[in-house]
Amino acid sequence: MVDGHGRRISYVRLSVTDRCDLRCRYCMAERMTFAPRPDLLTIDELAKLGDLLVERGVTRIRLTGGEPLVRPGIVDLVRALGRRIGAGLEEVTLTTNGTQLASLAGPLRDAGVRRINVSLDTLDPDRFRHIARRDALGPVLEGIAAARRAGLAIKINMVALRGLNEAEIPAMLRWCAGEGHDLTLIETMPLGTVADDRTDHYLPLDQVRRRLERDFTLSPSLHRTGGPARYYQVAELGCRIGFITPLSANFCDSCNRIRIAATGTVYGCLGHDQKVELRDLLRGGDEEAAKAALDRLVAGKPRAHDFRIDAPAPAVSRHMSVTGG
Ligand code: GTP
Ligand code: 5AD
Ligand code: SF4
Repeated sequence: MVDGHGRRISYVRLSVTDRCDLRCRYCMAERMTFAPRPDLLTIDELAKLGDLLVERGVTRIRLTGGEPLVRPGIVDLVRALGRRIGAGLEEVTLTTNGTQLASLAGPLRDAGVRRINVSLDTLDPDRFRHIARRDALGPVLEGIAAARRAGLAIKINMVALRGLNEAEIPAMLRWCAGEGHDLTLIETMPLGTVADDRTDHYLPLDQVRRRLERDFTLSPSLHRTGGPARYYQVAELGCRIGFITPLSANFCDSCNRIRIAATGTVYGCLGHDQKVELRDLLRGGDEEAAKAALDRLVAGKPRAHDFRIDAPAPAVSRHMSVTGG
């Protein structure tokens, strides 16, 4: 599939639930209204959708949420998608908050996952409780350790937050290097209304990189994961650090993705409402109509998001937990 701006769409972020067991302040409000369960695609429907996407030339599927590992049947879904690896699909990956990994890392690896991204904004239990509004650092660290033992490659995602975890960035980098994980820093994006004013915590990552360069030698790396991160090699630590900069330097020209919510709504861009609905078409078994809807979505995919941290309202009212980033 090629969009109206000549970009090949080969990567799909497939959300399997909008629910989550955490309430990260930049992502969700404390009280959220979730999609009614009957509105969610079933595991079978998600697997069928995966097949259809592969037929349309999608080579990478990343499962997201909410928190994908709170969805019952997630390992069955990964197993079903995993059967397509090597037959059109290159990889099935997952972005998780890590709380369920202690029990699920092994089964996920057996089902075909080779690398995962784990969201971890701090290594301090009190700060974790403040940012995620839940006391879960222990299970997350156990989960990451289990994933490592299971042989999964791990990238840690840290949303860089001024005044919250900013001072901890060098320590997080050293910890990741010691554990053998890559680290990616992310600028907070204005999606959905949360209690905090995101402007207060926005931290431009060029500033963070210059600060890190006082202590470390960073050289641009050609490493790419198919995602928006730009990586640097850290000479002193022998690890990589990635920067995802939607606000300070957008990467939309090379966008290769669409995103699908757990209800079967497909969105052309994280920062726009352009969408098509696939659920009823999948339920009705109308595969041709589903393919036509996907083509329509891709043809009309917006050129870029227009996130601005100082905008009076979030760019879209949809929270990140609906489309999984
Ligand atoms: P890999 O490169 O495959 O490791 O994955 P990734 O970094 O694309 O995925 P991950 O789920 O770890 O996302 C990290 C951050 O990047 C999240 O905050 C996402 O919201 C953000 N992100 C991913 N894709 C896009 C995109 O197309 N546009 C924008 N603005 N942000 C994105
Ligand atoms: N801005 C930037 N990143 C966010 N994430 C969740 N909400 C936001 C936001 N508003 C991150 C999570 C996770 C990834 C999928 O998106 O921390 O790592
Ligand atoms: Fe849950 Fe991820 Fe959102 Fe945190 S950022 S509340 S872990 S979906």
